[in-house]
Amino acid sequence: MNDQIPRAGILGWPISHSKSPRLHGFWLKKYGLLGSYEAMASPPEDFESDLRGLAASGWRGVNVTIPHKEAALALADRATDRARAIGAANTILFRDGLIHADNTDAFGFSENIEYIAGPHWNKTKPALILGAGGASRAVIWALLNAGLPELRLANRTRARAEALAGEFGERVWVLDWSAAAAGVPGAGLIVNTTSLGMKDRPALDLDLAAADPTAIAHDIVYTPLETPFLKAAAQVGLKTVDGLGMLLHQGRPGFEAWFGVMPEVDEDLRKVMLAP
Ligand code: ATR
Repeated sequence: MNDQIPRAGILGWPISHSKSPRLHGFWLKKYGLLGSYEAMASPPEDFESDLRGLAASGWRGVNVTIPHKEAALALADRATDRARAIGAANTILFRDGLIHADNTDAFGFSENIEYIAGPHWNKTKPALILGAGGASRAVIWALLNAGLPELRLANRTRARAEALAGEFGERVWVLDWSAAAAGVPGAGLIVNTTSLGMKDRPALDLDLAAADPTAIAHDIVYTPLETPFLKAAAQVGLKTVDGLGMLLHQGRPGFEAWFGVMPEVDEDLRKVMLAP
């Protein structure tokens, strides 16, 4: 089986919108590697048999996306600490007859912000995080791991934020959604992990007038690339980080595990990903 072309892909439901085949296809070509990466629709009731079927057919592994990230972790024989802490898996490796699960969203977030904002980012300052869904969990894990002293968390449904804060410990504390702007002064980083600002969705409306001039505004929404939140941040002079980079960087560990090369993110890749 090992002499077959390495195969990987992504399982989701629905899956037609996925940009991952374009991402991995770009890297396969760039590094001149033999391999394939395909998107596969997998309804929830078939997910387990689809995953085990690919493992049995000699596939190297897969990405998994909505709604399978929790199920993928539950099915895994082995999981990384970060996947367990985040409570979801997005990257699966089939090796030695076992299903290995990882979560690379926090890695993608950290690598991207280091790449874009690196020395500009003051990690001794608190961060303000908007949203308490799956993406927020990965961002919180990444920021605690980066050593930030304090995370201020605001979510429309306060109970969700409280549950997350309870899991992650005392460096995370909760603000009311209506009082989110109170978390702006003194924050070195402000991250939107909600779906506000996505195409056809209302904008995230956060008063940035009191922001520290050195603060970074980061949106994980990438359709559009310049969200109303990032536009407002740029208008008050803040450095901005768009959501595309996190998506690109989160793909790197999976590509390395399946195809043997740790790929890089560059401007050519961003252009390819942004093309219609
Ligand atoms: P993901 O896994 O991508 O983070 P999610 O778990 O559905 O997706 O979380 C979406 C986030 O966007 C949540 O924080 C959600 O707030 P609730 O927990 O209150 O649902 C937030 N969100 C979505 N629509 C929103 C809106 N109109 N106003 C404020 N927050 C919103």
